[in-house]
Amino acid sequence: MKRVVMVCLGNICRSPMAEFVMKDLAKDRDDLVIESRATSSWEHGNPIHRGTQAILNQYHIPYSASKTSQQIKEQDLADYDVIFAMDESNLKDLLALSKGRYDDKIHLFIEGGIPDPWYTGDFEETYRLVKQACESWLKKL
Ligand code: 4NP
Repeated sequence: MKRVVMVCLGNICRSPMAEFVMKDLAKDRDDLVIESRATSSWEHGNPIHRGTQAILNQYHIPYSASKTSQQIKEQDLADYDVIFAMDESNLKDLLALSKGRYDDKIHLFIEGGIPDPWYTGDFEETYRLVKQACESWLKKL
């Protein structure tokens, strides 16, 4: 079993989109566990952003409506096998939490990172990049 976690700043826009797009693409595989977390506690307990929910609905990607934001903990770095940072800032925060112990598990999800739709408002761009990165990584997982 390979445990994968998608990580962004708030765990309401990009990382839940990546979690459910990857789950959908990997629905025929029983060897993957896929979840998502935030680097911050800012959105703790809040549901998936309606922009991400709209995209998941539009592309008929199933998701859990009860999923709420959770901050990543040191223990998660030990427990997960593959840790994806949605952007360079998330990567920096994860490496700071890792303190050199889990660096080999931590990867930038896509070159250049996924721009934050919280600021850009462009959830279509988020989806396009998330799907591209999921398809590319899935072959290697
Ligand atoms: P995410 O987007 O990291 O893709 O979930 C954000 C969500 C919330 C905030 C920033 C980014 N915020 O400032 O609360």
